[in-house]
Amino acid sequence: MSSTANKSLLDVATQKLVESQVWRSIFRHGYPDTPLNQSLVMMGNVFLHLHPVKVSRQAMKVTYSWCLGGISFFLFLLLTVTGVFLMFYYIPSTDVAYQNITQLSSAVSFGNLVRNMHRWAAHLMVVSVTLHMIRVFYHGAYKPPREFNWVVGVGLFFVTLFLSFTGYLLPWDQIAIWAITVGTNLAPYTPLLGDTAYKILVGGGAVAQPTLIRFYVAHVILLPLAAALLMAVHFWRIRKDGGEAGPPPPARRELEAGVERPMVGVTR
Ligand code: HEM
Repeated sequence: MSSTANKSLLDVATQKLVESQVWRSIFRHGYPDTPLNQSLVMMGNVFLHLHPVKVSRQAMKVTYSWCLGGISFFLFLLLTVTGVFLMFYYIPSTDVAYQNITQLSSAVSFGNLVRNMHRWAAHLMVVSVTLHMIRVFYHGAYKPPREFNWVVGVGLFFVTLFLSFTGYLLPWDQIAIWAITVGTNLAPYTPLLGDTAYKILVGGGAVAQPTLIRFYVAHVILLPLAAALLMAVHFWRIRKDGGEAGPPPPARRELEAGVERPMVGVTR
């Protein structure tokens, strides 16, 4: 068989495939070689639709964002997976919590590894979220239209800190009890609420069993849910605000630098 015949057979097979109902039910647009089809590919794909259709080339460089938001998200996923592992062994009771943690580190396969992965990822997440916030500030990416996403980010920053704070109590060792005693002693100074804020946080007059269960529920349910929700809004807004904020276009740069342009119809 000649190569032309082979090619035409392939062409026919390809044609049949792309015209089949199965193919067309999945791919609802043509080959992405035109701006319209490129936009349709982005909007019609469940994974790609999180990205804007067009992005600034400069903002795509790793050295622009340092992927700090992406690293924070990766650490959040790692913390969720390792946290679920820890939940199989940990009981939030003041009688057994400390023992659980020591047994986990010495008697459970990979227990020490997973516990340390969870601990280190938590520290790193606080660092990466803080650096991400500084990077966004440095690039002025908090300015319109991204000001709402900055506010969502501030929410994420506090949720990250609270996750770290609540997790710190769970091993119920001396350093944890006293660190949380010091930390929660700030609560009575809350404007208007005062002592009520302390009682809500601690669940009584001092750090004890009710505190442990409150911090546990906040650490494994409330705060991760709040973080996941805020992240969903954060990522959606990045897309809606046109992707990452690149450097301003040359015309605006000139304006900001005070370069004067000749004004038509004006005599000096
Ligand atoms: C759990 C915490 C956070 C996660 C997972 C996260 C994730 C992300 C990701 C993946 C991006 C895309 C660009 C990049 O990687 O830099 C981004 C952008 C952005 N983030 Fe965050 N972020 C978090 C916290 C924050 C905080 C604390 C702030 C500020 C208070 C913030 C404000 C913003 C803004 C304004 C953008 C758009 C930046 C631009 O257009 O250049 N984020 N975030």
